[in-house]
Amino acid sequence: MTLPIMLVLVWNLSLPAQTVSKGAGSSDPATAAMQVQTDLNRLMRGVFYPPSNVVFSAQNDDPADVKPAPGQDPSMATDPLKSTFGRWQAVENAALALSESANLLLIPDRKCANGFPVPLNSPDWSKFVQSLRDAAMKAYQAAQTKNQDKMVDVAETLSTACASCHRKWRDKPRADRCK
Ligand code: HEC
Repeated sequence: MTLPIMLVLVWNLSLPAQTVSKGAGSSDPATAAMQVQTDLNRLMRGVFYPPSNVVFSAQNDDPADVKPAPGQDPSMATDPLKSTFGRWQAVENAALALSESANLLLIPDRKCANGFPVPLNSPDWSKFVQSLRDAAMKAYQAAQTKNQDKMVDVAETLSTACASCHRKWRDKPRADRCK
């Protein structure tokens, strides 16, 4: 019963991506490989913020105790912790998603919301991206131990990794961000 539903979802999700790569007008797989589709702010909201909250939540709420809402189909869950790949595995997956997503911060030609280019050429940018990867991999390892005390430590490291970059490029008037 659950499997066909998931297959339908995966199929639907793949449609926009195909449309996008056709729209780019390139038949060369090498140039189709990486494309920027949004500004840095939307990337943060859509890609980095949701899995961070999954990792952070494991400090206070034991992922092992999370239960799907009564009558809810886990394959349709909007909360990863309550999904088919839920509980501690959701925390592991969120940490891995964050670490892999760090690569998206290195794609050339992305702009910040105010139109400034993402400061890819700054050595600090690379340093902060690497700190994010390292912090996320630490979170992954901690999640594998299913130990909430360890999650408290890695959550601190992760939020420092986010905040260090924000302090330099985000926490200022919008027009001055990413300068
Ligand atoms: C390498 C730098 C860098 C790292 C690391 C980073 N961010 Fe960001 N983030 C930014 C910048 C710069 C902006 C502002 C972008 C813009 O205005 O276009 C931003 C914006 C955001 C926003 C949007 C805020 C709003 O008001 O719309 C969120 C949410 C966010 N970041 C979350 C996170 C989280 C959570 C992490 C850590 C897991 C993280 N970021 C790590 C640079 C970074």
